[in-house]
This record gives sequence, C-alpha cells and structure tokens, in this order.
Amino acid sequence: MTEQRIEYSADKATAYRQLAEEVASVVAGETSRTARYATAVPLLTAAFGERFFWCGFYEVDPLKEGELVVGPYQGTLGCLRIPFGRGVCGACATKRETIIVPDVHAFPGHIACDSRSNSEIVVPVFDASGSLVAVLDVDSTSFAAFDEVDARGLEAVCRAMMTG
Ligand code: SME
Repeated sequence: MTEQRIEYSADKATAYRQLAEEVASVVAGETSRTARYATAVPLLTAAFGERFFWCGFYEVDPLKEGELVVGPYQGTLGCLRIPFGRGVCGACATKRETIIVPDVHAFPGHIACDSRSNSEIVVPVFDASGSLVAVLDVDSTSFAAFDEVDARGLEAVCRAMMTG
C-alpha cells in the first residue's frame, strides 16, 4: 500500500513541483496507462482540495476516431463521451494545447456536466512518442480559479505521470 508522504507547500508552483515528483515516484515502471491516470487523480485532489471540484481524464478512444471517452476521475457524474472540437475538453484535444476558461458559461459549446462548475482548465496528455492520448480536465465551483501557474504545473504533472 502506498501512503501519501508529502505535505504540500502553500506556494502553488512549489506544490505542483512536489506533486509532479510524487506522481513520478509512485507510477515509476507501471505498464498500465489507466493505473497512471487513476493514481494521478487522488494525488491531485489531495494536493489542491476543494479548488478541484471535478478532476479527471478523458482518453482518446482508439476504437472511435475523433472521440474522447471518460477515464479515471473524482467528482460528480461526468459525461461519458466528448467528440473532438466540442466543449473545453474537445477543444483542447483538437488544439493539443492547454485551455483556461475563467467563466465556463461564456465558453461557446461548453458541456455542463454539473451546473456548479464555474471555471475550468484542460491540459493535453501526450505519450512518449508525442501522440495525444488523453486530456486532464479540472473544474472549480469558483470563477477564474486557474491561471498560468496551474497550466504549467498541471502540464508538468501530466509529463511526470507519463514518463518513467
Ligand atoms: N465541461 C467539460 C465537460 C466535462 S465535465 O465538466 C466533467 C467540457 O466542456 O469539455
């Protein structure tokens, strides 16, 4: 059984660095991608608490081209499938870059899985060869909960989750 060993810094950038190290050390050598995603989710929510109202992965479905399918997550019920180009997750999958949405109600095509979500960040996840394999979606009940520090921090956590 793996215990959580880290007390995270109050400084967000430092907390993300600590978290990336912890994720890397827990998943090192793991062959299952699902196990990597499923490990990252509780570590992320433990580190950032209530700011992360919904936190989880939508995976690129290898069997249905241009579609994301829900993967490991914590939070209220999420929708199962999102076509590329739809909502924030679909836009991230198409652009292959991080998207920060300070007010989801103002984002064209936003998919409201839970009306309590007010802001969101979605980060692309790449495998070792640079192919998009998933997106990490984090929602908050606060408006404008995420900034560039979250973007760079979550990108680093996703890289750490996929290597080693
Ligand atoms: N809001 C997301 C959909 C996923 S959930 O919020 C869990 C979107 O617009 O892509």
